[in-house]
Amino acid sequence: MIPVVVDMDSGTDDALALMMLLNSQAVEVVGITTVGGNARLADTTRNALRLLEYMGRPDIPVARGAARTAQRAFHYAYDVHGARGLGIPLPSPTTRPVRSRAPAFISRMASRYRGKLNIIALGPLTNIARALRKEPRIVEWTKQLVVMGGAVDVAGNITPYAEFNTFNDPDAAHTVLASFFATSLVGLDVTTRVSFDRTDAPWFTGDAPAATLSKRIVRTWFDEHLTSPRYHLHDPLAVIAALDPNLFSWHRASIDVEMENAARLGMTTATYGSGPVRVAVAVRAEDATAAVTDMLSRPGDRASGA
Ligand code: RIB
Ligand code: CA
Repeated sequence: MIPVVVDMDSGTDDALALMMLLNSQAVEVVGITTVGGNARLADTTRNALRLLEYMGRPDIPVARGAARTAQRAFHYAYDVHGARGLGIPLPSPTTRPVRSRAPAFISRMASRYRGKLNIIALGPLTNIARALRKEPRIVEWTKQLVVMGGAVDVAGNITPYAEFNTFNDPDAAHTVLASFFATSLVGLDVTTRVSFDRTDAPWFTGDAPAATLSKRIVRTWFDEHLTSPRYHLHDPLAVIAALDPNLFSWHRASIDVEMENAARLGMTTATYGSGPVRVAVAVRAEDATAAVTDMLSRPGDRASGA
């Protein structure tokens, strides 16, 4: 099984991505690190704990990360993700995060699973950048870093220029994307191609815990966003990229992240041809959407249910 650490700012699509990984027989989620972004760190941490308990996996450690960047507070997206960042009620967690903070936890997991660890980063890259500064060897110890972030050859979603995660911490995005992780960048260039239509309900089949909660999350999102025809599967697509990269076309590039120009903060520009990052430039959208649906419809074998 592939050992995975998920760095997340849950968020509704982060929640779907986590449940996909927990449902997968190919993956062992060895830990979660939380970061502010979609919601405050307290909410994203609480959501990670609540989701793990709901899925019957309270054994998976959760390590708290950054409540803000080195430069500024996060820009939250409660208007997109709903109350407390998940939009739906779930029982309060009975478990607590581990004492380690995210950077030390990431370094420890990279060392323990040396050469095998996949890190899937679904929020601002603050925790990953701090882990890298703390222990530069995680670059060699980590087999693959998959980043949901950036808008390379398409418009942004939080400003006309920048995607939400790189906008929220452009300095961290610069540090991580300039480093020599084996980084796969899954940005809006492909994630805006993979979405659910409101009329496709119920999107998932079966009544296993992941399918049941995913239906509730997506249905509530559509109920709260009556003018939005589609729910974009940003973070779930990063999971598909980690597990089935052949559904994508990749171009190697060096990525420049705008850190100074206030109007273009977090804008990501690619110089294609060579560089440390492989950028997803196209995706087999129907197959990828079907893969998301399948991974969330498949019954989990350890989940406790609602
Ligand atoms: O731009 C989309 C990304 O920002 C997703 O990861 C979403 O969860 C938010 O974090
Ligand atoms: Ca996210």
